[in-house]
Amino acid sequence: MFRTHTCGELRIHDVNKKICLAGWVQRIRKMGAMTFVDLRDRYGLTQLIVDQETNAACIETVNKMGREWVIQVQGLVRERSGKNPQMATGDVEIKVEEIKVLNAAATPPFTIEEQTDGGDELRMSYRYLDLRRPPLSRNMQLRHKMAMATRNYLDKQGFLEIETPVLINSTPEGARDFVVPSRMNPGEFYALPQSPQMFKQLLMVSGYDRYFQLVKCFRDEDLRADRQPEFTQIDCEMSFVEQEDILNTFEGLIRYLFKEIKGVEFKEAFRRMSWADAMRYYGSDKPDLRFGMPLVEIKPLTSGRSFNVFEQAEYVGAICAPGSATYTRKQLDELTEYVKRPQIGAKGMVYVRCEADGSFKSSVDKFYNQDDLKAWAEVCKARPGDLILILSGATHATRKALSELRLEMGRRLGLCDKNTYTPLWVIDFPMFEWDEDTARYYAMHHPFTSPKPEDIPLLDQDPAQVRANAYDMVINGVELGGGSIRIHDSQLQAKIFKILGFTEEKAVQRFGFLMNAFKFGAPPHGGIAFGFDRCVSMFAGLDSIRDCIAFPKNNSGRDVMIDAPSAIDQEQLDELQLKILAPKNKE
Ligand code: AMO
Repeated sequence: MFRTHTCGELRIHDVNKKICLAGWVQRIRKMGAMTFVDLRDRYGLTQLIVDQETNAACIETVNKMGREWVIQVQGLVRERSGKNPQMATGDVEIKVEEIKVLNAAATPPFTIEEQTDGGDELRMSYRYLDLRRPPLSRNMQLRHKMAMATRNYLDKQGFLEIETPVLINSTPEGARDFVVPSRMNPGEFYALPQSPQMFKQLLMVSGYDRYFQLVKCFRDEDLRADRQPEFTQIDCEMSFVEQEDILNTFEGLIRYLFKEIKGVEFKEAFRRMSWADAMRYYGSDKPDLRFGMPLVEIKPLTSGRSFNVFEQAEYVGAICAPGSATYTRKQLDELTEYVKRPQIGAKGMVYVRCEADGSFKSSVDKFYNQDDLKAWAEVCKARPGDLILILSGATHATRKALSELRLEMGRRLGLCDKNTYTPLWVIDFPMFEWDEDTARYYAMHHPFTSPKPEDIPLLDQDPAQVRANAYDMVINGVELGGGSIRIHDSQLQAKIFKILGFTEEKAVQRFGFLMNAFKFGAPPHGGIAFGFDRCVSMFAGLDSIRDCIAFPKNNSGRDVMIDAPSAIDQEQLDELQLKILAPKNKE
């Protein structure tokens, strides 16, 4: 046998066993006549001990070895005199009898241990080495476990995993597509799926009433910590269901994953909040409910005191940061700078300190007397010692800015505990979003989302007021998943396309096959997709989804290890009948 055990396996009850291990040399330490070698594989670390006096031949081999050499050892399991409670195998060590070098290794460019000295870019270039490190290895194992648990749950619920194609046409998700030229059809392109949306709906027409797939999706959009150009969805669709059935089934999936993987059980039903309330009270469609600090509109209480900024504002809103009245001028200036950053976009910030003696100190003392400030404090439910922060301006933009400020205060006050989970369904999203630049409506989710039946009459009068049967699952301020009940009535679908500004011709061109399929007995259906990378990342407590993806892209969408994307040969271009107009000179 190549190995009898893994490097994470041996325990005190294995003492006196003759064993054989194989793995990578993490560290070599010489201490007098003894040489210690830490041997690693993905299961853990085992300490080897080579005794110069009894095993001169092995010492010769060890002297040649360096970090990351691949070796095989035979030896005897012994109880350690100085046990290491930090290590799973820390009660034992291996008295080496034979060592065989399986492969030498170049010195790695960074240390391959729990903590490393390698910078981000360097580690991305040698991702295969970084993946040897325990933190990444743990993430990969967690990812696998979550994928297995997901499949297990959905299989038990009667879902079939069905693969859908990757070389397709544009999908309706609304980001930019990645496109692939077709050699056999010169001048024509495939698009990579932003999601399998249309295929899963077609599968409903085909009668596969419970579909799922762990599937790669591709979106050419600006990258952030929770976005990758290729990412994985747990994509699902069901027939003969209403919104309630979908919410229950997938609340079940999330509960199952938390219980199986993290041992966390949620006692109560997941909270539900309408999109309108989420925006009103948290300024966000993905509120982090680990802490309160809701947005309070105080515009009516600010009028008539000649403070022009508030007089002219459409909206004046406040949050109350508990126990923060001690914030210094400098800290308040810092916060003001924070909200003035272009990404947040506030013009300024007003504060009210609620002093311990019940009085108030504010940056707008000149305009508002103690009674005014007291009235604000009352609606904000502020108590002595609290700090009220106020922003004003256009309603939507100001709520969004307040939401950022709220999150920042939550972080500063240590209210964002990674081990507290507050799941939430955000429901009743608007059907449409108005875009000023193009002066047209866009589908907030996608064009196949069904309106709430009671709002259908509003489609003609006031589309902006129409709510959709759409829902998002949000945990700790992260949108983990989203979906909707679909339209299965072709007349209603045609109407929605019209509101979205698609001519009949354009709708047929883009979605004709789906509309056609719907003529052949489409069942009522709906579904959801979870961002699998986001789920794993949340379970692992990571700051970026990158760390739970084996080979991710960097922030410029590059894989620096394989140097992709890259130019292609002239021959390939010719074959594809493509011409690069302005070739980019690579340094
Ligand atoms: P949606 O576009 O909301 O819905 O995507 C579903 C979930 O996928 C995750 N996600 C991403 N994760 C990482 N990187 C990205 N670039 C990225 N983009 C999205 C999010 C999101 O909630 N077809 C519909 C689903 C449906 O209606 O059934 C869809 O794709 O966690």
